Amino acid sequence: MTLRVAHTAELEPSELSAVRALLDAAFDGDFSDEDWQHGLGGMHVLVQDDAGLAAHGSVVMRRLRHRGRWLRTGYVEAVAVRADVRRTGLGGRVMAALERVVERAYDLGALSASEDGARLYTARGWQRWPGQVHALSPDGIVRLPEEEGDLYLWPTLAGPLDPAGELVLDWRDGDVA
Ligand SMILES: CC(C)(COP(=O)(O)OP(=O)(O)OC[C@H]1O[C@@H](n2cnc3c(N)ncnc32)[C@H](O)[C@@H]1OP(=O)(O)O)[C@@H](O)C(=O)NCCC(=O)NCCS
Repeated sequence: MTLRVAHTAELEPSELSAVRALLDAAFDGDFSDEDWQHGLGGMHVLVQDDAGLAAHGSVVMRRLRHRGRWLRTGYVEAVAVRADVRRTGLGGRVMAALERVVERAYDLGALSASEDGARLYTARGWQRWPGQVHALSPDGIVRLPEEEGDLYLWPTLAGPLDPAGELVLDWRDGDVA
């Protein structure tokens, strides 16, 4: 079993294809091209075993505004473990490596959790954001009520965020959070 941390630019096309296949399988065909785009352009964690790619996650840079500051945020995307090796700690190993990147390179960590993911993240110390969630759309700031409750933060240099304060995500095509 090997664990590799690499930027998107360092991955071979065949490695990226294996990541996409893992994600398509893990999300039961519910992983869109936009979801794929969201996980590119930052650092990837890849775990390989004898059968091939066993686990993946990536962290990309976004800006989140809180109390008037646009925080440089490591946003975790595309976390998945191959079905036959789930519940063996691989999700935790991927997250530990991503959290190290977040802590060393960003002011804040953030992610939007699936139901499966939420338990893993909470157990590791990610904190559910209890406040409202907004995004800076091309037409101005909009509230994203459907994202509220699913957003988790990893406070680093920015210190704890105030749930009564604003949380505004930068914009992107596809799912904004
Ligand atoms: C969410 C996901 C990544 C978790 O991966 P995983 O490798 O199973 O994660 P871990 O093994 O580190 O931890 C998961 C659980 O297994 C338990 N576990 C860890 N090692 C274990 C072991 N050796 N034996 C038994 N259980 C173990 C953990 O305590 C945890 O338990 P909990 O869910 O009751 O809290 C995986 O289920 C997945 O790919 N799901 C589909 C895609 C998805 O939803 N991704 C998240 C998007 S936000």
